[in-house]
Amino acid sequence: MSDELIEHAVRVLLDGGLVALPTETVYGLAADATNPVAVRRIFEVKGRPLGHPLIVHVSSGRSLDAWATEVPDRARHLVEQFWPGPLTLVLARQPGVPDVVTGGRPTVGLRAPDHPMAQDLLRRLDLQAGGWAGVAAPSANRFGRVSPTTAAHVRADLGTDVDLILDGGPSRLGVESTIVDLSQDRPIVLRLGGVTVEAVAEVLGERPELADAWSAPEGEGPRAPGMSTAHYAPQPRVVLVDDVGAFAQDLVIRLVGERLAAGDRVAVLAPTVVDGLPPDAIELEPVGPAANYARVLYDRLRQADRLGVDVIVAIPPPPGGLGESVRDRLSRAAVAGLQRIERGRREPPDP
Ligand code: TXA
Ligand code: MG
Repeated sequence: MSDELIEHAVRVLLDGGLVALPTETVYGLAADATNPVAVRRIFEVKGRPLGHPLIVHVSSGRSLDAWATEVPDRARHLVEQFWPGPLTLVLARQPGVPDVVTGGRPTVGLRAPDHPMAQDLLRRLDLQAGGWAGVAAPSANRFGRVSPTTAAHVRADLGTDVDLILDGGPSRLGVESTIVDLSQDRPIVLRLGGVTVEAVAEVLGERPELADAWSAPEGEGPRAPGMSTAHYAPQPRVVLVDDVGAFAQDLVIRLVGERLAAGDRVAVLAPTVVDGLPPDAIELEPVGPAANYARVLYDRLRQADRLGVDVIVAIPPPPGGLGESVRDRLSRAAVAGLQRIERGRREPPDP
C-alpha cells in the first residue's frame, strides 16, 4: 500500500472530492463528512434521493464523542468489542454534524471500518483535519444496484464520476454492516449485517429488538430509511427455494425447467453443485457455507445481471449467524422482483 496514494486520497477528500474506499463489508463512496457540498455530490453521483442518512466512518472509538452526544455505556461496550468492524451505531448527533449527512435527523450513524487502507486514510485525515475526522460514505453503487465488493464493481457503476478509486482487493465480508440504533430506550437492530445479532446480544446482555423493515412504510417506524427491498435487489428476478430440506435440489431442477420452457434465461445460485440441471441453465459457481456465501453474493448477482439472466433460482444458506444476513438480502431481492412483476415492468426500481 503506497503512502503517496493514501496521501493523495486525503487531499482529494479535503478538496471536497469523492473517493471510493475499500472496507471489510463493501466499498464506500466517501466524502469529508464536515463538508456539506462534498457530501451532496455523493447523492448526485449515486442518483440517491437526498434525505437518506449516511454512515460517518471514523478511525476509532476515540471519535465517538466528536460526532455523537449522550453516548450510553452500552454503545461504548459495543465499540470496544466490535470496532474496527462491521457494526454501525445510531446515536444522538452532535449539533455540528451537517444535515445532509443525517438526512436532518437528530441521530448519526457511526462506524470504524476494519480495512487497512480505510484505517490508514482515516488516521491521516485525523492528523490533517487536526482532530477526529470522519467520512460520510454510502455503498459505492449506483442507486438501485447491489453494493460493490470489488474496485471493478465500483468502476462499472460509477466510472469517472468518482475522483479516485482505491483498490483494496475484494471485501472480506461482502455484506454491509449491522446497524444498531442506540438512540432510543431499547436497542433496535435496523439492519442485519456483518456482526450477528447473537454477538450483539451477548455484549448488551439483552436481545435487541429487530426493526420490522418489511411492513413499515419508508420513513415510519423504527427502521433505517433506505432499507426498502429495492435497495438490495439485482435486475434479474430472484426465486428462493427454501425450507424444503432434501427436496431443494429436485425443486430447483423443476423450477429451472419451467422457467426455461417459458423462454427465460435462468441461473442457479446454490451453496453446492446441483446435479442434473438442464443444459441450458447457467450454473453460477457454488457459493459454499454462509461466510463464503456472504463474501461472493453480490458478485454472483452482478454476474447474472451481466449475463442477461431473467431469473435466478437460489438456495439460501441455513438460518442463524451470518447466514441470517445473507437470507435477509436474498429475501429482499426476491420480494423486489415480485414487486416489479406486479407492476408489470422489468426496469430499475423506483427511487
Ligand atoms: O457496511 C456498510 O455499512 C457500508 C460501508 C461502506 O460502510 N455502508 C453502507 O451505507 O451500507 P449505505 O448508505 O448503503 O447504508 C446505510 C444505511 C442506510 O439504510 C441508512 O438509512 C442507515 O444506514 N442510516 C445511516 N444513518 C442513520 C441514522 N442516523 N438513523 C437511521 N439509519 C441510518
Ligand atoms: Mg447501500
